[in-house]
Amino acid sequence: MRKFDTMQFNIEDDWFEYDSLIDLWLPMRLQLKNTNTAIPVLKDPATGTNIQILLKKIKPNVIIETGTHRAGSAKFFVDELSEIHVPNKNYLVITLDIIKSYKDQLSTMDGKPYPKGCWYNILQEEDNFDNIKFVTVDSSKLQALYLVKSILKRNFQSSEDYNILVSLDADHTCEHVFKELMLYSTLIKPGGYIVVEDTIEVWFAGAKVEIQGYNIGGPLAAVIKFLRDTPEGMNFDIANDDFELVRNEDGRCHNFPYGLLKRIS
Ligand SMILES: C[S@@+](CC[C@H](N)C(=O)[O-])C[C@H]1O[C@@H](n2cnc3c(N)ncnc32)[C@H](O)[C@@H]1O
Repeated sequence: MRKFDTMQFNIEDDWFEYDSLIDLWLPMRLQLKNTNTAIPVLKDPATGTNIQILLKKIKPNVIIETGTHRAGSAKFFVDELSEIHVPNKNYLVITLDIIKSYKDQLSTMDGKPYPKGCWYNILQEEDNFDNIKFVTVDSSKLQALYLVKSILKRNFQSSEDYNILVSLDADHTCEHVFKELMLYSTLIKPGGYIVVEDTIEVWFAGAKVEIQGYNIGGPLAAVIKFLRDTPEGMNFDIANDDFELVRNEDGRCHNFPYGLLKRIS
């Protein structure tokens, strides 16, 4: 494992070959079992594949996700956990969003309304719906951490019973992601992981990016700041190279270069 060194952030790296940010962010759709509905996951398929690889190797039984959107990623995570979790072991996805998304976002990715009600209702028909816990909160606030801890307390007898992976995919400003890292890192045991989504934005900072409200570069800047100012008594490092992640024939890889963090001690 390398020790953190600012020199390793070389955005001249050519390890991926995306033509445009839009190309990268072509989202996935997740077909739900009990309906003809596909819900949108705001991850490109290559990132989805690599997250699957990570989950199968790391085998967490709890995923804490910030940024629910329309719960496509939460459903994707819970499906993965239901496949990999050890029999009789409890598994849970706790997903946080500032917007009460299940009430506010009624349309599919095409802008068409769902056949009946919103995605939340449709998701309720799924077998593992109860394994997803939805929390409406600003994920950068201390209150969010308390809410997550209370869910963990209600669902597990002791902290020995869970192995958490955190996925940060809410507000992408440096300030927000840094606060999230400081909060949720405290839940990670030595050997555990945090995925900081969209660190790849920096590679496109010079490109013409027309995504309103996007503060390009925030997630990677937050990673750098966090590795410098990690909470007392903890040691994290970048762990992307610890895993053999796939790269498609067209060069696509994933959206979190330097964004996989491991708690070393
Ligand atoms: C990129 S989307 C999440 C995509 C989702 N994880 C997926 O892969 O399908 C970002 C989400 O973060 C939420 N968000 C923005 N600011 C937030 C905040 N301060 N706290 C929690 N969620 C926030 C937005 O409402 C939006 O739903």
